[in-house]
This record gives sequence, C-alpha cells and structure tokens, in this order.
Amino acid sequence: MSLATNSFISLASNPPNYESVARLQNEFKNRDEFIVDGVIPFLEQILFPYISKEAHILDLGCGCGHLVQQLHLKGYQMTGIDASKGLLGYAQTNAPDSEFIFGDIRNFELPPTFNAIISIDVLLFILNNEDLTAIFKNVYAALQDNGLFVFSIPLIELMDKQTQEGSFNHIYVNDECAFIELFNYNSEKKMWKIEVTGFELVEKTWKRSDTTWLRKDHLFTDVQSALENVGFTEISHVDAGGLGGSACFVCWKHI
Ligand SMILES: C[S@@+](CC[C@H](N)C(=O)[O-])C[C@H]1O[C@@H](n2cnc3c(N)ncnc32)[C@H](O)[C@@H]1O
Repeated sequence: MSLATNSFISLASNPPNYESVARLQNEFKNRDEFIVDGVIPFLEQILFPYISKEAHILDLGCGCGHLVQQLHLKGYQMTGIDASKGLLGYAQTNAPDSEFIFGDIRNFELPPTFNAIISIDVLLFILNNEDLTAIFKNVYAALQDNGLFVFSIPLIELMDKQTQEGSFNHIYVNDECAFIELFNYNSEKKMWKIEVTGFELVEKTWKRSDTTWLRKDHLFTDVQSALENVGFTEISHVDAGGLGGSACFVCWKHI
C-alpha cells in the first residue's frame, strides 16, 4: 500500500466514529418509515420466505436499532452488534426487547445459533479485503447449518453515475438538529471521503461536531471470492437500488 493511500486512510478512524453524531444519526437515518417502506418489502422477497417465524436474526452494524425493532415486531428474535456505544444507547431505547452487543464485527465470535445474519449499509465502511474476509468468516461461524446471510455492499461496477459526478451531499434539518454529509470520491483509491458536520441544540445552545468517515466501493469478484474462501457455496446478488445503490448479496451456509 502506498504512503498516499495510508495517509488517506488515516483521515478516518476504523470503525468510523459515530459518537459525536449519535443523536443526529438517530434523528435522521433509517427511521421507521424508511425501514417499513424500503427495507422490509425488500426482505420480504429475499429473506422472510426462507426462515421460520421465530428465527433468531443477528443485525451486524445495527446502529440505532430501528431495523432490529421492526423485525422484533414481526416476531423474530433479534440481536444487534455495533461498534458505537452512542448508537447502541439509542438502540436499547428504540428496541427495548432485543439484545445488543458492543463489538467490532471484524473480530466478533458467536456460537452457531443464528438462522440469519443481516447487514445493511455497514460493509461500505470495510476498507480492505482482509477485513471483509474476517467478517465473512465470523458470520459463517455464527450461522446455523442452512442459515442465510444477507448484506448490502457498494460495488464499483454499480457506481458509474456517482463516480462520474465525483461528489454529492446529504443534508438533513429539523428544529433542533442539522446533519450534513459531503461525499468526495478518490478515483485512485476507489474510496469516498465523507466529511460529516452536525449541529444540535443542547440546553438552548447550538453544539457543532465534525468527523470524517471513509467509504470503500468493492469489486464484485473480491466480494464473491471472500465469501467462497470462508465456505459459502450458494451465493446470489441483486441490485439493491432501494438500499443506497448497493448490491445485496444472499448467501447460504450449506454444510
Ligand atoms: C450507516 S450506519 C447503518 C446502521 C444500520 N445498519 C442501519 O441500516 O440503519 C453504519 C453502522 O455500521 C457500524 N459499523 C461500521 N463499522 C463497524 C465495525 N467494524 N464493527 C461494528 N460496527 C461497525 C457503525 O457504528 C454504524 O452503526
């Protein structure tokens, strides 16, 4: 890896720092409406028909737990894991009947008790193939036989329009909070630098927070071979337009 690549990567902590913007993430990101109208209909096609009504599901990178709660309301037994203590604090309030684990998904070790493992909008933060393979290995070990792994991931092959534009912004505002994400693409590293600025009203005073995240777009063949290397044999993928322009992979653990 070149010095330039190293210094680009050192711009951001890994896992990404969500602590200073946890409240803003909870206010604006993946709220129940988005999950009910966008994510659940998608999972109705690719996940629910293949698991039992009482299935135990692990949500990797569960963030504020909105998806965990919606799946709990559908009857599933839910566990979430995330590397942000701040986000997990919101998750415990948003999904009070589910279990949460504080941990880095690159290192977690859980027994093979899950019927399904899902990960939405998380693997974009995994910056190299070694870490991706480590996560897939941990997932494979935590799945029951015939368990299912469903995840979204941005693929270089699907990124044409955005990469040509090179940059875009997301801006969210309400009476007490504002949240801005500036995305800039680095074509050499195939990564996005995401400069994040938040404002929140705390006891009548506006508080500002800044942080930087890095997002990596992966090659389809890298994802596919990392999955095969850890043991997944039946792998398919669909364009997940409704899930942030990423591809959605569906993988079975067949022994
Ligand atoms: C964009 S948010 C998505 C949250 C949630 N999946 C959703 O769809 O609302 C990305 C999440 O991934 C988590 N994350 C990123 N890298 C992680 C890692 N290495 N280990 C655990 N969590 C991680 C972050 O803390 C954050 O909660």
